[in-house]
This record gives sequence, C-alpha cells and structure tokens, in this order.
Amino acid sequence: MSKVVIFDHPLIQHKLTMMRDKNTGSLTFRELVKEVGTLMVYEITRDLPLEDIEIETPVTKMTGKVIAGKKLAIVPILRAGLGMVEGILELIPAAKVGHIGLYRDPVTHKPVEYFCKLPQDLADRDIFVVDPMLATGGSAEAAITMLKDKGAKKIILICLVGCPEGVAFIQKHHPDVDIYLAACDEKLDENCYIVPGLGDAGDRIFGTK
Ligand code: PRP
Ligand code: URA
Repeated sequence: MSKVVIFDHPLIQHKLTMMRDKNTGSLTFRELVKEVGTLMVYEITRDLPLEDIEIETPVTKMTGKVIAGKKLAIVPILRAGLGMVEGILELIPAAKVGHIGLYRDPVTHKPVEYFCKLPQDLADRDIFVVDPMLATGGSAEAAITMLKDKGAKKIILICLVGCPEGVAFIQKHHPDVDIYLAACDEKLDENCYIVPGLGDAGDRIFGTK
C-alpha cells in the first residue's frame, strides 16, 4: 500500500488557512497555491538521493554532493493544477512539464478528458502529478492511468486538500502511488465538494464561476 503524507509545517498550515477563507481573492489565492506548492515540494525532495562529484572551489579541490538518479516531470491536472507548477519549477527548474486536461462532469462528477501533452521520456522520469484538490479521486485516478498507459513507472500525487474518499480511491486503483497532502479534510458533500475544503480551486485561481 502506498504511503500518505500530510505536511504539518506551520507555514503550509498558515497559508492553507488563508486559502480556505472565502474572503481571500484570486490574486492572493493564486500566490498562496504557488507558495504551498513550493513548500510541499521542498519537503518531498528531502530524501532525494545524492552522489559525489569532484569540483574545485577558488581555494582547493573537494568532493561535493549533487542530486543523483532520475530526472523529474511535473504533470498538472488542468486547470487548477497549473497554479502549483510555477512554485515547483522555482525549486526544480530543469523539470519537464506535461499537461493533462480533465474536468469533472457536473452531474456525474466523473472526469472528462480534453487534453493530454506529455514528455516522451516518461519512463525515465519521476513524475509529480499535481492538483490542489483530491475529492472523489476520479480526476487523479484518470490522470495516473493515462500516465501509466504512456509508460510512466514512478508517480507520486501532490494535492493541497484531500479527503478520505479520494485517498481510498487512489490507494485502491494505484497502490504504488504515494500521496502528499497539506490537509486531509473530513468528507465530501452531496455535490462531491470537500468539506470544509476551499471551494472550487480552479474558479478561485482563475477568477471564474
Ligand atoms: C477540480 C480539481 C480536481 C478535481 C477533483 O477540477 O482541480 O481536478 O476537481 O475532483 P475529483 O477528485 O472528484 O475528480 P475541476 O473538474 O473543477 O476542473 P478545473 O480545474 O478546470 O476547475
Ligand atoms: N474540485 C474542487 O475544486 N473543489 C472540491 O472541493 C472538489 C472538487
């Protein structure tokens, strides 16, 4: 079974509370999504393997450490996932970025695919699937399935707000995918919105309704 990590870092929790506040406008909300994305990836990359390289400082030769292993790809689920990309690229500027377009049908709440453009060398990269919300889990499940169908082997899922239903859905269908959250909320409401949640993340980022 995959692991579920919930980040309790005070900065992440503080910024998340500001995002949840209905009086927070799009400009601030967008900035907070970006910042929380950066902070979460800073924590997630804590255990990346290092390797030694020989370098020369202005003073002497030395053995330094650099990140070893596979390269990364960030794959936001459109639209709302886009809000997290810039903050992650600030830490990992060499990552490639793929895009998966999905929207939730308002009646069935099932994901509908409308776009997919991914790096070709998926199998050689660690993939970060990013989306602020993990509600029923349908969108993240569909995105991960699309990535695996195209050769991706190592995938993690990074969301800001999840709930038990969404976590269970991903663990059932993709037990190999670790899930990273800033919060795991109480439940879904009758419209499959997360409670207490933060509302519609895409609408709040882009100022639509
Ligand atoms: C939201 C959110 C997730 C999805 C989560 O996107 O950004 O992608 O819903 O719900 P689920 O876990 O039940 O699938 P939405 O469909 O509203 O599209 P948007 O990002 O374009 O607003
Ligand atoms: N999508 C959102 O943006 N918010 C929710 O609470 C559920 C799905």
